[in-house]
Amino acid sequence: MFPFSAPCAYPFAPREWPVTRTRRETLTTKTMAQYRIAWMPGDGIGNDVMEATKLVLDKLNFDAEYVHADIGWEFWCSEGDALPERTIGLLHNVDAALFGAITSKPKEEAQAELTPELQAKNITYQSPIVRLRQEFNLATNLRPCKGYPGNPLNYKDDIDLVVFRENTEDLYVGVEYHPVPESLSAELSKHPKWARFIEKAPLEDIAISLRINTREGCRSIVKAAFEHAKKFNYPTVTVVEKPNVIRETSGLMVRTAREVAKDYPGIDLWETNIDAMCMWLVKNPLDYGVLVSSNMFGDIVSDLCAQLVGGLGFASSGNIGDKLGVFEPTHGSAPKYAGQYKTNPMAMILTAKLMLDWLGEKGEAARLDAAVAKTIAEGKVCTYDMGGTNTTLEVAEEVTRNL
Ligand code: IPM
Ligand code: MG
Repeated sequence: MFPFSAPCAYPFAPREWPVTRTRRETLTTKTMAQYRIAWMPGDGIGNDVMEATKLVLDKLNFDAEYVHADIGWEFWCSEGDALPERTIGLLHNVDAALFGAITSKPKEEAQAELTPELQAKNITYQSPIVRLRQEFNLATNLRPCKGYPGNPLNYKDDIDLVVFRENTEDLYVGVEYHPVPESLSAELSKHPKWARFIEKAPLEDIAISLRINTREGCRSIVKAAFEHAKKFNYPTVTVVEKPNVIRETSGLMVRTAREVAKDYPGIDLWETNIDAMCMWLVKNPLDYGVLVSSNMFGDIVSDLCAQLVGGLGFASSGNIGDKLGVFEPTHGSAPKYAGQYKTNPMAMILTAKLMLDWLGEKGEAARLDAAVAKTIAEGKVCTYDMGGTNTTLEVAEEVTRNL
């Protein structure tokens, strides 16, 4: 059961993505391009890396119409909604969406930046990407972390990890209380552990964020992980939780994983606690391949995996539902670098590659992957994080030359 006792060789990184969309909106107008893609740069460096990625997409055999969609901090400040209804409407009518980055700020700061007319209206900021994942039931978050040969930032050679993160439940559900309502406190008083808090603090000094997980949410993400392992011959799937302490929610994930695993006789299920996993990934990253986790732990472990293969500048991700895929790099909006074209565009370019795979454009996805690999291996053109002096756009131009 324990990963540290069974090191094993993984096949080299899968070059294509196994999860392909299940349905495409029917396009009615004959003059339309083959694909309609929502273009959502969002905040900060999201704009820089999306501009760079457009240079690459335009050089591929990919017949797409890109439709700009409003999302991000400026719409929170001016309209009180970082994800306006018009954007949700638009997303119902696209094949996929590309998303740059988002700025999220804590409650008080968000409130302070709201336009004065909206200040009194008691509107609360919600992360638009978290909302998108929930509103469109983008339940699978795919985060491949593959070390490209020759990347000086690789922690070790040959790392090939992919995180399957449940994307709509868990601590991210947004069921939170501060202060704690009397009615909730009365209900919680039935639990022996609640008395300790009531004795210690008044209700206005207690905050509660609920972790809510369903069997179906767990089943679906674990199944996606096993399907990936099966398709690409990974010998194990590691479920990353903390069931020894968080017995019910983490317990549900692990128990469900054991059930799902029965349908995949050739693949071992490893069970590792999130804290230990962080340690083992740093110690023996080559022992692992497919990881599966709930939303919060998946968020944490995917940043760690990203750093093993060069950092957030290389980490792509896809938020996948039955009808829509929203593709975004794992990195944030890095406001201090916004508009400076310093940021490594590889994460965003690889995100576009993920989208191509999901759309079924396997050939173009593979071509793009090879161009990225060549650009990295040659190391002639690279951004500051890789020790280079090139701009975001210059790196993208080099990738297009290598296509
Ligand atoms: C991510 C990010 C988001 C998350 C933030 C921006 C809300 O960290 O996609 O990993 O926590 O999911
Ligand atoms: Mg994150």
